Amino acid sequence: MEKISFGRTKKGEEATLYVLENKNHTTVKVTDYGATLVAFVFTDKNGKRRDVVLGYDDVTGYEEHGSYFGATVGRNGNRIANSQMVINGKVWKIEANEKGNNLHSGKNGFNSRMWKVAKSSDTSITFSHYSPQEEQGFPGNMDVEVTYTITENDTVEISYQAKADADTVMNFTNHTYFNLGGQDSGVITGQKLQILADAFTPVKDSTCIPTGEIVPVEGTPMDFRTMKPIGQDIDADFEQLKFTGGYDHNYVLSDKTGEMRVMANAYCEETGIAMEASTDCCGVQLYAGNFIGAQKGKNGVTYGDRNGFCLESQFYPNAVNQENFPSPVVKAGELYTSKTTYRLYLK
Ligand code: BGC
Repeated sequence: MEKISFGRTKKGEEATLYVLENKNHTTVKVTDYGATLVAFVFTDKNGKRRDVVLGYDDVTGYEEHGSYFGATVGRNGNRIANSQMVINGKVWKIEANEKGNNLHSGKNGFNSRMWKVAKSSDTSITFSHYSPQEEQGFPGNMDVEVTYTITENDTVEISYQAKADADTVMNFTNHTYFNLGGQDSGVITGQKLQILADAFTPVKDSTCIPTGEIVPVEGTPMDFRTMKPIGQDIDADFEQLKFTGGYDHNYVLSDKTGEMRVMANAYCEETGIAMEASTDCCGVQLYAGNFIGAQKGKNGVTYGDRNGFCLESQFYPNAVNQENFPSPVVKAGELYTSKTTYRLYLK
């Protein structure tokens, strides 16, 4: 496997970019900083190589920006209301880093850690991290591994496994921003998306904390059961979309975890690149990149709002505090596993 220097962190740690490639020359690049997916390169219908994910040229970009491009997010992806939770009768307080709530586990999230390489081959790499109880404020010391694999059919598989010595939250996600037109092609609003979910979890207000309800998408702009352009209804006069400035909602894939299923399909007509995304998680956050802002990305490209869309497989937001949502708490000593895949093909 090719290894490329990816610069030094502010603390002076050396970051490395690892290149995974299959026989079709579909390439996945990942770095040990944040166990982050940096590039996913595929040949489009005109024979042009397209990198379909947003990112930065070196580790400094990842340290300096707060968009979570390609990051491994944990221990808890998405939000925890009031930055606290009760586990086995004890209150645990974590960092309030967004409007009094916790987003993506705060500034000591997995996305900002240097991970170790536990195993690697030409097509697969496993990163490991030891997360002590004090690191983010969640109970228990945790060992966690994330494995990226590029398969022969151009799928990037992301598998997680973790174990802790106390009952604790395990809700890992990958925060890749996809742009099937290529990372330098501007807004994704014309790209088509299907999400195989009949319901979503509405939010209370602009804090993006769920009300706790599970509401059918039918008859609303939230309905992606039939493929449609992401931008078709994104600015509709619909309270849920006004709260969040465009799609930033959890879709209900199932009421349980552990069964692999297709969660979404996406397509870009200009490049012919299509994507099928699958997961064994019960929910997926559709985030339409509403607040990327103007920033310098890979190869000098300037990104802006809605230049990428995320399909973050997850437990529903604030699930640890919401009794009617599937629970993200895993028992001490129990092995937690989960898997999410993104397959590219030409259509
Ligand atoms: C959240 C968005 C947030 C983005 C970047 C997504 O998972 O739902 O609200 O802006 O991550 O932090």
